[in-house]
Amino acid sequence: MATVDHSQPVMPGEPTAAEAGDPGVRRRDFINIAAVSFAGVGGAIAVAPLLMQAAPSADVLALSSIEVDISKILPGQGIKTSWRKQPVFVRNLTPDEINKANAVQVSELRDPQTLADRTKPGKANWLITLGVCTHLGCVPLGIGEGEARGDYGGYFCPCHGSHYDTAARIRKGPAPKNLHVPDYSFKSDTVVQIG
Ligand code: FES
Repeated sequence: MATVDHSQPVMPGEPTAAEAGDPGVRRRDFINIAAVSFAGVGGAIAVAPLLMQAAPSADVLALSSIEVDISKILPGQGIKTSWRKQPVFVRNLTPDEINKANAVQVSELRDPQTLADRTKPGKANWLITLGVCTHLGCVPLGIGEGEARGDYGGYFCPCHGSHYDTAARIRKGPAPKNLHVPDYSFKSDTVVQIG
């Protein structure tokens, strides 16, 4: 199982490492990592030829799950990674963003879900969703530093103007559903397995 090691993010307003004299590190608005886990593929390849004929392709198996190192994502930051050829947003919500999400009257939502419904117990700050607008599939803005986050502080899809809140729930615009939360689990406090 491969683990993705993201480089150190930079908080808004902080000097970059390069600005601080470290030429080996550069600032990035977001980190787009195609993280591919090969767990289980070796065993699948080693089986008898008959089984090989019925097995899914190695390409499919390789994309079945990924592990993401979240240790460098500070509150207010996020990264974009890739899983099964789809963008995935991993965001570390600030206490203010969590409060805003929890202050919403859920019954008024188009796709009623609480933040707790969309996160793991005790990990409400870790919002992990597909980066795919539920209208027609554009990749919304908002995961990268400085990107538009729409009227509700979450994500904004400029294709047709869908606004998502800090729990990535649809609040305005044509998208019918919240950003999809994929299956994932915490392998540790700093590593998340998606898929
Ligand atoms: S694809 Fe996002 S608003 Fe249409």
